[in-house]
Amino acid sequence: MTGTDEERQGDRVSATDGTTRGGSTTIGVGEDVTQPAPGGELLRPHAEQLYAGELAALVATDTAARPPSWRMSPQAVVTYLLGGTLEDGTVVTPKYVGPRRLVEVAVATLATDRALLLLGVPGTAKTWVSEHLAAAVSGDSTLLVQGTSGTGEEAIRYGWNYARLIAEGPSPAALVPSPVITAMREGRVARIEELTRIPSDVQDALITVLSEKTLPVPELGTEVQAAKGFTVIATANDRDRGVNDLSSALRRRFNTVVLPLPAGEDEEVAIVARRVAELGRALELPPVPAASEEIRRVVQVFRELRSGVTADGRTRLKSPSGTLSTAEAISVVMGGLALAGHFGDGELRAADVAGGILGAVVKDPTADATVWTEYLEAVVREREGWGDFYRACREVSG
Ligand SMILES: Nc1ncnc2c1ncn2[C@@H]1O[C@H](COP(=O)(O)OP(=O)(O)O)[C@@H](O)[C@H]1O
Ligand SMILES: [Mg+2]
Repeated sequence: MTGTDEERQGDRVSATDGTTRGGSTTIGVGEDVTQPAPGGELLRPHAEQLYAGELAALVATDTAARPPSWRMSPQAVVTYLLGGTLEDGTVVTPKYVGPRRLVEVAVATLATDRALLLLGVPGTAKTWVSEHLAAAVSGDSTLLVQGTSGTGEEAIRYGWNYARLIAEGPSPAALVPSPVITAMREGRVARIEELTRIPSDVQDALITVLSEKTLPVPELGTEVQAAKGFTVIATANDRDRGVNDLSSALRRRFNTVVLPLPAGEDEEVAIVARRVAELGRALELPPVPAASEEIRRVVQVFRELRSGVTADGRTRLKSPSGTLSTAEAISVVMGGLALAGHFGDGELRAADVAGGILGAVVKDPTADATVWTEYLEAVVREREGWGDFYRACREVSG
């Protein structure tokens, strides 16, 4: 075995065929613009592409019963999400770090006729878990509706190819299916991101789909009936509650799983360190050794400000207006690694993360700036071994 499992998966990211065209950027006649240009590499492969090796090994070693149309058993899906070692020796990397029971409840829900709603504050891996669940259950995480205030009914039901509609009238060939219709026909998982941001009347289009498992197409006098295996995973932010709250009729069609913030500091440091290592490899950043001490400080600062009390429980703090999620800690460290790798001496230092922390903490220029300065002066300044961190933060705070 050469390299770690992750390294071998990283190799699979490449979509290049090895040919390049001397710097030309014009699209050739007959070229398929949906395919990467020669020499192009995917910036962000889908979960089923990135972890194709793990998924294939899980399918191959899986002996438990599979629900209809599922690629693997519910147990295997849980192993894919939480990680483990398979009988054939394949190491499955953990994708989600959190309570096992919670993942089991989510996966079991998908095997029933109820849809799954992942709820939580921003940055608790709702989107991430939804993508990996869809990849493991259906082998396809791309049947996705991104919910916004502008999401229309056609995103959930269907639209029309107007050229054909005008030329031929309504026909199955003129109908443009939504990802939900495709998932229904193929018995796969459809994903709906930020469900509560979708206007309520558009959300209601889902009620028939989830309760009757059919979608009427009155223009053609017909309907689409869902194949076995069809289900929906939706995500919604706690913070958005009230924007377009779910109607009780729709809420009843979902089992809700609330994704928590990481329980302890060690757990959160581990999540950040793992993701940062994966992202750094994918972005081919210069490797930065022994970043863990700085990661721990970023995580500690985030946790203290989030919870409103210092880690030793002695000092009460004011919390800033932003969420300071794990996802934000990951991007602060990523930004720091890019600085350290390209402009620094190759080691992650306080000066590389200070600017990112300031940007994450100070969302509101007056109130948050006061909270941050108080924290710096009352807590960070006095903390042993944090002198470099204090100075770096003072410098960027101006
Ligand atoms: N408990 C966790 N386990 C693994 N990764 C996590 C966890 N919490 C956050 N992350 C990371 O945070 C990032 C952002 O998560 P995301 O799914 O976009 O959050 P949300 O959709 O809840 O706002 C992902 O890269 C994910 O890896
Ligand atoms: Mg999300």
